Amino acid sequence: MKTRVYIETFGCQMNVADTERAQTVLRSSGYDLTASATGAEVILFNTCSVRARAEQKVLTRVGEVAGVAAANKSSIKKPVIGLLGCVAQLEGEALFNQSSAIDLVVGTRATDRLPELIRRSQEGERRVIDLGERDWGASWEVSKVERHSPYIAFVPIIEGCNKFCTYCIVPYSRGREQSRVATDIVREVEILKSEGYREVHLIGQNVNSYRPKLTKGLDGFDGATPFARLLRSVAATGMERIKFTTSFPRDFHADIIKAMEEHENLCDWVHLPIQSGSDSILQAMRRGHTSRDYLRRVEIIKSARRKISLSSDVIIGFPGETPQDFKETMNLVEQCQYDALYIFKYSVRKGTPSARLPDSVSKEEKTERFLELEKLQQAIQKKIYADYVGQVVNVLVEGESAKSKKDMTGHTTCQKVINFPANNNRKGEMIRVRVSEAKPNSLYGQAV
Ligand code: SAH
Ligand code: SF4
Ligand code: F3S
Repeated sequence: MKTRVYIETFGCQMNVADTERAQTVLRSSGYDLTASATGAEVILFNTCSVRARAEQKVLTRVGEVAGVAAANKSSIKKPVIGLLGCVAQLEGEALFNQSSAIDLVVGTRATDRLPELIRRSQEGERRVIDLGERDWGASWEVSKVERHSPYIAFVPIIEGCNKFCTYCIVPYSRGREQSRVATDIVREVEILKSEGYREVHLIGQNVNSYRPKLTKGLDGFDGATPFARLLRSVAATGMERIKFTTSFPRDFHADIIKAMEEHENLCDWVHLPIQSGSDSILQAMRRGHTSRDYLRRVEIIKSARRKISLSSDVIIGFPGETPQDFKETMNLVEQCQYDALYIFKYSVRKGTPSARLPDSVSKEEKTERFLELEKLQQAIQKKIYADYVGQVVNVLVEGESAKSKKDMTGHTTCQKVINFPANNNRKGEMIRVRVSEAKPNSLYGQAV
């Protein structure tokens, strides 16, 4: 019988894409993949380290599955338990001491070697570890069965980060920026299109820092930056919907918006995290721009010929954040009128420069500021969402709504969740929906 592998994924889209790639490699090496940890001979966690909570969650899960395995007398052998992803890369060997249940540690660029690493562990080798680099010659394709959706695919275009924002662990867990060659990206999008995919997300820690060593695949395409050229070359594939995330403010060139105006399949959504509205905090974070620089980019986005929705991330309680700094964040959020905002409480990450600063904002103060900002955003969103009522929007039908079997769910081109009654199952179709109701984080409507 084939060895059954179960993978649980935490963290960002990059981890989702890595899990998909790992699953493809495993299946083609003769492993079976299962949807549940129960009964699996190999249990892998693809981990995230961006905040303390994400890291704790995975160690709790390791304890749970190890406990179940120990209690289950009928199982002949304890499953192989492995950690992949960012925690694995950062903690390395030390993880074996943190939990005796962990057999395997596989870094962020080593997932392609999983079949061999698992085999070694199953043959009895203890503490198998690989924190090595990716083979960049290998293609990034993943099979249809291993994608998180049969209609939407994540396509990594750049991996790693060179920015070293002072609070952030990602440059240490993901390594230096490496851009894939455009021909590989375009070919992948073409294959996805021929397989029936209707939407791709070009993903990377900072997509607009895309800068491949070779210009192969960009030659026929104009653009002020390699990313703007890549957008035009991917748009030319005719893929119905193309979204991209995350954009880094300092590298956000106006030509990105021009490319979006030229190509309707470049969807009307930009995720442009600000982190703080205070210039002194932005400087302490080493973001490389001021709030004014940021607002200039927002102005370009908002004055596009097509309405483009805008979302952002904010960190509350960075070391030294005063009530005045926080007020500036509130003001900036008010000014930007975001369609969506992800608010995070500052979390100290060992090894980052800001970890040396005193975590000066108390837990209570962080919570208070968090709630205040959340309330402001809810009010902004209420207005923005209400404006959609009566409008007809394009929706890619992704499946049944998790909340109610009577409803189907999907996203608009501007990345808003929209639900509607499932009169007939139209999964995978691109349909038009008239919005009848605005909820706090989603729209509701009827197919037309
Ligand atoms: N590359 C993207 C962000 C990737 S991490 C960018 O620069 O915009 C995703 C989000 O996690 C960040 O935008 C930030 O808001 C949050 N984050 C990162 N490190 C954090 C930390 N130490 N504490 C709290 N939130 C953090
Ligand atoms: Fe982290 Fe900054 Fe890189 Fe984003 S740009 S991943 S916040 S270091
Ligand atoms: Fe988390 Fe690593 Fe992504 S730290 S957010 S999984 S890059």
